[in-house]
Amino acid sequence: MHAVGIVAAAGSGLRLGADLPKALVPLAGRPLVAWAVDTLRAGGAAEVVVAVPPERRTEFAAALPGVRLVDGGATRTASVRAALAAVTGPGCPPVDAVLVHDAARPLTPPDVVARVLRALAAGARAVVPVLPVVDTTVVVDGQGIVTDAVPRATLRRVQTPQGFDRRTLEDAYDALPDGVELTDDAAVVRAAGVPVQTVKGDERAAKITVAHDLALAELQAVRA
Ligand code: C5P
Repeated sequence: MHAVGIVAAAGSGLRLGADLPKALVPLAGRPLVAWAVDTLRAGGAAEVVVAVPPERRTEFAAALPGVRLVDGGATRTASVRAALAAVTGPGCPPVDAVLVHDAARPLTPPDVVARVLRALAAGARAVVPVLPVVDTTVVVDGQGIVTDAVPRATLRRVQTPQGFDRRTLEDAYDALPDGVELTDDAAVVRAAGVPVQTVKGDERAAKITVAHDLALAELQAVRA
């Protein structure tokens, strides 16, 4: 199966409080995005393209020598749409599967990528790595008062990379109206009525959002 990887790395990362785009923030001396590219390659992606903030292209090119970059958009949905067009458009080599990964999940083990690819090879059209929800999960009103508790047994936390049959993902993005923004690519294919299969995720694939997440990742990276 010829799989290409897309890394969404065009976000600002304001919540991390860094003066750099989040994907360029160093983890154990290397930018987060470089870790994410390595994971996809080690897990089986034949090539990787990275969606970057257009105004920071020079810095991304320096951080990712030899890696193909495309200009990302104002939202994650727009960034993935642009990268997808670049890897599957006219003149591109034939692609069976697309893996979409967040730069913000640098320590994802390649095993997770391999699990996603195996499920695609077995016939799934869309695959996401997931973990159980371990905390009690509740609904609150505008005053912060708990109004309901959600049974957690059937809840899952969704990670990346998410894998797709190439045509399924292209068709789903084509069908998504302009201006509709979804937080991940599984939501885009679900909006098109495609069933999304799950495989086991990994705590090490946690997303880096706030400074505490980066501190934890530094500890993990040192031990790895
Ligand atoms: O903001 P959040 O952490 O949810 O972003 C998830 C991923 O999407 C990040 O890796 C970020 O760089 C990427 N992103 C993007 N283009 C945007 C916004 C976010 O590629 N416009």
